[in-house]
Amino acid sequence: MMRRMKFSHTLFALIALCISFGVSPCLAKSSQVNATELSEVATHPAKMDWWLDDKFGLFIHWGPSSVASVEIGWARASHPFDHQGKLELMPDAEYDALYKQFNPVDFDADQLVRTAKAAGMKYLVFTAKHHDGFSNWATELSDYNSMNAPYGRDICKELADAVHKHGLKLGWYYSTRDWSHPDYLVGDNSQYNDYYHGQIRELLTNYGQVDVLWFDHVAGKWSDYRFEELFEMIYELQPQILVNNRAAKFVFRHKAGTPTPELFALTKGDYETPEGKIGNFRVDYPWETCMPMSKGPDGHGGWSYRPEAVTASFEKCAQMLAACVTGGGNMLLNVGPMPSGELRSEELANLKALKPWMQTYGESIYGTRAGPYVSGQWGGACHKGNVIYLHVFEWADGQLSLPTLPRKVLHCEALGGESVSFTQNADALTIRLHESKMRSLRRTFKPTERSLHRVLKLTLEPGADMALIPVEGHVAKQQHGTLVNPMCE
Ligand code: GLC
Repeated sequence: MMRRMKFSHTLFALIALCISFGVSPCLAKSSQVNATELSEVATHPAKMDWWLDDKFGLFIHWGPSSVASVEIGWARASHPFDHQGKLELMPDAEYDALYKQFNPVDFDADQLVRTAKAAGMKYLVFTAKHHDGFSNWATELSDYNSMNAPYGRDICKELADAVHKHGLKLGWYYSTRDWSHPDYLVGDNSQYNDYYHGQIRELLTNYGQVDVLWFDHVAGKWSDYRFEELFEMIYELQPQILVNNRAAKFVFRHKAGTPTPELFALTKGDYETPEGKIGNFRVDYPWETCMPMSKGPDGHGGWSYRPEAVTASFEKCAQMLAACVTGGGNMLLNVGPMPSGELRSEELANLKALKPWMQTYGESIYGTRAGPYVSGQWGGACHKGNVIYLHVFEWADGQLSLPTLPRKVLHCEALGGESVSFTQNADALTIRLHESKMRSLRRTFKPTERSLHRVLKLTLEPGADMALIPVEGHVAKQQHGTLVNPMCE
């Protein structure tokens, strides 16, 4: 078994070293794999096209926990069937009563969606229910919901309507973990299965088109769940929906029996979800980094509103997005609205700053695919048609030298209008930023955030297939995670 796994990892590594690029034979000194074989591996179902093109979504963690400025879910003292985490705890009764004060009178779903859209976000994922069990919609299956808070409104409905009105895609975050539900993992768990299947049915029936179902972890054994029935219902209600990889995630951890290969394939969903970090370079399987824009001062949590959290700079947000896109992934950037319903000023300022950034650099994000260069500390690349975009994070004396491209570079410009020059020979492609400009950039940005981030647009002579090009000193790591079938372990 071990041997077979090692082989499959090597195969994945090889696959990741090559992509189909729609241009000419590769001249670069890099591993190459037959493009026909590759295109099969790298093919995703057509229903993923929009998601692969759109790249950037807004994640929203919000609920009554914001009233007490504590971390959503995790601040509740009891976490049945889960670890305790490292956050400040509040007695269950106190946490569970917070909704009685939840009255976000300044919440304006339309405004929030317009802000996200202006920031270049194309989809939105909202915590319909987090681990604490509170439902942000008019569920008929539990009284612990937003209709029974002083606010008395269906927050999911308001967001869904705004998202549809403004042409974004809609996603529900749904935590299968439920630390306040009396039936959760009790007996054969059948009552709880009925409950959460019923809730998913509501969310996929009453809010128009739903594009993403973003599950978040669950404990227990495989036999505690009726996943086949769940997924059948999901696809019946929303045939085009994308489902993340967490519907059964952590079931594996609990020495919980072995799923059939079919069940494993079903519950691994459509994409992986590296959390709080940029996913590793990977072009053979879709992934999305979920990233809180603000982090708890101790480095923990920060998904929901906590006034003491530290918010990343706007430059950092843009760079993280670029790192995801050039690494083959999407980014779901999280905000945690305040109890009033508004965004904290730092998070709002970042979203506003992304608007002009996107106007200049958006073409290097949307509709692109990662490569041909393999990402590293230097930055990364993505491509579209005969154009390659380089997102460069590090410059040595205003200069970047990469292995040459197999096709002639006809033109090189820096998006945003700085002046650049380049040379291309049999070994290297070298790009220089104008020196005086580099000096002024050094003064303007903090090097710790690597804000020398610049986007170069290379226009290439038309051609055929191109393999991925490793950049010396930067090795592409593979993310193993849930792609590894637990049956092989
Ligand atoms: C983790 C946390 C949760 C958060 C999620 C976002 O699973 O438990 O609080 O909602 O990550 O990815």
